[in-house]
Amino acid sequence: MYVVKSPLPEAALKTVSEALQGALVDLIDLSLVAKQVHWNVVGPRFRSVHLQLDEVVDSARTHSDTVAERASALGVPPDGRAATVASGSGIGAVPDGWVKDTDAVGTLVKALGAVITRMRARVEATGEADPVSQDIFIGITADLEKHHWMFQAENG
Ligand SMILES: [Fe+2]
Repeated sequence: MYVVKSPLPEAALKTVSEALQGALVDLIDLSLVAKQVHWNVVGPRFRSVHLQLDEVVDSARTHSDTVAERASALGVPPDGRAATVASGSGIGAVPDGWVKDTDAVGTLVKALGAVITRMRARVEATGEADPVSQDIFIGITADLEKHHWMFQAENG
């Protein structure tokens, strides 16, 4: 069912919609992982790491909404269902239970690194197909790389 007409030709739309959908599941999972660690972190640096994690949650939620709505604007229905996120996310499993502050930071360095690698691939993939979507991926990547830097500095 086509409700919203896409401004893009079919081949370009396929490339861009795959990139947007992939970004959506990565970003939703990033928000969930950051909350999981936010609740379970323990240790002497609890407060700073706990608060820093919510900054990632805020960013990931904002960016997930941006990519989902970009898909909608291109006429592609975004899929943010739990099962879709679980099967499509590029972030590996995170441990359950309490997590020491240094491990919490390590978990975020790894999770952000995985999402950034995939986001940079989306920047590469979408430049020709749709520079408007590429611009969104570039902005998101810059923000995620800022968070990535800060978590790496935490364990420096
Ligand atoms: Fe909280």
